[in-house]
Amino acid sequence: MQKDKIRLAIIGCGGMARAHLNAYIYLKNLGINIFDFVAMCDVDLNRAQEFAVTAAESQGGVQPSAYVDVNEMLDKESLNAADICGPHFLHHSLAILCFEAGLDVIVEKPLAVTIRAGHKMIQSAETHGRILATAEQVRRWVGPRTVEWLINKEKMIGQPRMFFRQGIGGPTDPENLLRDEPMVWRRDKLTSGGNGIIDGGVHYVDLLIYFFGEPDEIYARVENLNQFQFRAEDGRYVSQTVEDTALATITFKNGVIGQWVSTSAAPGHGMGYNCYHGSLGSIYSGGGYPEQPELQFWDGVRREKDDLQKAYMGSLSQEEKNSLFPHDITEGVALEVYDFLDAAQARRRPELDGVDGLKAQAVCNAIYESGWCGESVKFDDVYNERISGYQDEINDKWGI
Ligand SMILES: NC(=O)c1ccc[n+]([C@@H]2O[C@H](COP(=O)([O-])OP(=O)(O)OC[C@H]3O[C@@H](n4cnc5c(N)ncnc54)[C@H](O)[C@@H]3O)[C@@H](O)[C@H]2O)c1
Repeated sequence: MQKDKIRLAIIGCGGMARAHLNAYIYLKNLGINIFDFVAMCDVDLNRAQEFAVTAAESQGGVQPSAYVDVNEMLDKESLNAADICGPHFLHHSLAILCFEAGLDVIVEKPLAVTIRAGHKMIQSAETHGRILATAEQVRRWVGPRTVEWLINKEKMIGQPRMFFRQGIGGPTDPENLLRDEPMVWRRDKLTSGGNGIIDGGVHYVDLLIYFFGEPDEIYARVENLNQFQFRAEDGRYVSQTVEDTALATITFKNGVIGQWVSTSAAPGHGMGYNCYHGSLGSIYSGGGYPEQPELQFWDGVRREKDDLQKAYMGSLSQEEKNSLFPHDITEGVALEVYDFLDAAQARRRPELDGVDGLKAQAVCNAIYESGWCGESVKFDDVYNERISGYQDEINDKWGI
């Protein structure tokens, strides 16, 4: 029997939503016709309309309606699913409105602006029997999938011991504190929840959990060293209230220990790499994420990235391929939105649900909490909200 098509809305039609829109259109172009774009919503009507026009081209000219208000959209439209790509401080309230209206939801990472907001989302999805998926594309790339296979299935590096991640860069024009750029939601702790650690960094933590399992303890120093100021709406210059530097030591319940350094306040020689060491060797990849992993054994023998990724893809059964790279898709955002749509149709759990998203986020929050209190913190205490000093003012601000 033909299943009903999913009636989809995109909420928040900004930068990342564009990648989602393109990914959905890519699925349609592959002949995966399991959904229709029904509505687009953004407080900026032009953005919603522009998305609606682009979406219409992919579905025979049938144009989704454009809205500036989510409540109005939910009242007027008959929808089954929403893809939320708004600023972090709105994720929970937008998602909860959707669950209450009976929609399944995929939310861009990080799941929520605070841990409490994330638990509220998970609770609401459960209460209303809806699917909550966290949009997480990085682990779906062939490179990170290869690393997981090498570590956990092939056990190529032996017993996992350590990881190191450094992302070190510096600003241009460091002597000028006044930046000729607007103060956007990302630079304000109350609207973003934090900067590089919880924003791009949550992808990296998701990988660590994918490779090593549950975290145990986190100790970190967190700083705003540059103290740059940005233009507020009234023309005054105001300081960003999020970090530009964090140095964290993270331990895992399986005994793995590691260090993560993330800074945009270190001018001069920059670097970016990920390295995972075990009792027999290491996996190294330059750049922000382990996209091009290389293996080196203790005796110096190496296996290069193309060889490893080919071996990984060759190792997959047809069933595994259908699950990990359905329709031969290897692009991460297309895979994540397909996983969501397929989960919504099949009423199954997506690969990354709300709990998975919140656990990855909780490591980022633990880094902030440790920086805030100056002591190491247990992952479980942060995930279960026994420690929340850094987040208190955010929860207070939004009544979370
Ligand atoms: N997965 C990734 O690689 C990746 C990359 C960038 C951003 N993101 C995530 O995507 C999300 C959005 O980030 P972005 O960079 O696209 O931000 P953005 O500022 O470009 O877009 C946010 C959009 O939300 C709209 N918006 C604000 N309030 C709204 C409301 N009440 N209702 C509807 N729309 C509203 C804004 O007008 C804007 O168009 C964030 O969660 C971010 O962390 C993920």
